[in-house]
Amino acid sequence: LANGLAHTPPMGWNSWNHFSCNINETVIRETADALVSTGLAKLGYKYVNIDDCWAEKTRDQQGNLVARKSTFPSGIKALADYVHNKGLKLGIYGDSGTMTCSMTMPGSLGHEEQDAQTFASWGIDYLKYDNCNNEGIKPTIRYPIMTRALMKTGRPIFLSLCEWGDMHPALWGSKVGNSWRTTGNINDTWDRMMYIADMNEYYADYARPGGWNDPDMLEVGNGGMTKDEYIVHFSIWAISKAPLLIGCDVKTITKETLGILGNKEVIAVNQDRLGVQAKKVRTEDDLEVWAGPLSKYRVVVLLVNRGLASARITAHWDDIGLPPNTAVVTRDLWLHIKWRQRPTGNMTAMVASHSCKMFVLKPVS
Ligand code: GLA
Repeated sequence: LANGLAHTPPMGWNSWNHFSCNINETVIRETADALVSTGLAKLGYKYVNIDDCWAEKTRDQQGNLVARKSTFPSGIKALADYVHNKGLKLGIYGDSGTMTCSMTMPGSLGHEEQDAQTFASWGIDYLKYDNCNNEGIKPTIRYPIMTRALMKTGRPIFLSLCEWGDMHPALWGSKVGNSWRTTGNINDTWDRMMYIADMNEYYADYARPGGWNDPDMLEVGNGGMTKDEYIVHFSIWAISKAPLLIGCDVKTITKETLGILGNKEVIAVNQDRLGVQAKKVRTEDDLEVWAGPLSKYRVVVLLVNRGLASARITAHWDDIGLPPNTAVVTRDLWLHIKWRQRPTGNMTAMVASHSCKMFVLKPVS
């Protein structure tokens, strides 16, 4: 969407994967604090996004959405001010049907302009717009109404189309929003995470600056996968130019999780200005090579082992888009080391079960 936002994929945090409906203004404020104190904000994680369950079940007498008094007594405007004062941005959640997915708050269907004005008046910077209780009206009808309503407010608001891939939003999303969900909900398991990664990869050609494929939010740090599996999860999201929305409790984040989400070199791949989503370029049983171009003629390569035994995986220049006989400097983004050899046609690495190796290759003459 040409609203000047999301030249690179958005980065931040969202309440849903860890807290689901158990949210309140203290959690949001303390998360903003924690994003700053852990250093994550400095690395680019700027959006603090409130998901479902922040509003009263009914609108006020003028038809306005109102923050739930028991959990957000100070109101959303106060929260936006708080978050903005820390140099962060505030995101909120709405629905393009009659009620949100939790059924605890009203949807915006038929109230799009009023709700857009409300969000803008509160200082909202990001809207996740969901698809529940949609009365069978096509998303291609419902979503653009909110796009226009947000434009009309004059405030640049990132619009995230949470359409679950129902009607292939990758095919129409770039005119309507800044990102679109290509899949149903993620959960904190290896199988579901990899399934979603595959689905999202299918639409790689549709991602571009201003509009990104969204394979849903990160589960890193929520406890359901091993460290290596979370590294695969974060690496695939990074090379897929996915929104990097942290989904764990940042207030109690461990060193290990911080080490994954805070990997500067991996973040730099996600935020590379070329903005091209990587693809799976070779599959041999459980062994996969993913690759994509980066700025300055560089290439990112991810070797993924989905099998149960360690294995050698080879990336061929032919597959990853390098001209034959090109010598490259090879940097391992998780070990933070440069290879001594300069391969000229292919490269091979040993990859453990359910883990990956991530490299940036830089041509040298
Ligand atoms: C849908 C979305 C989730 C989350 C919930 C909230 O399932 O896909 O990401 O926002 O609704 O109810």
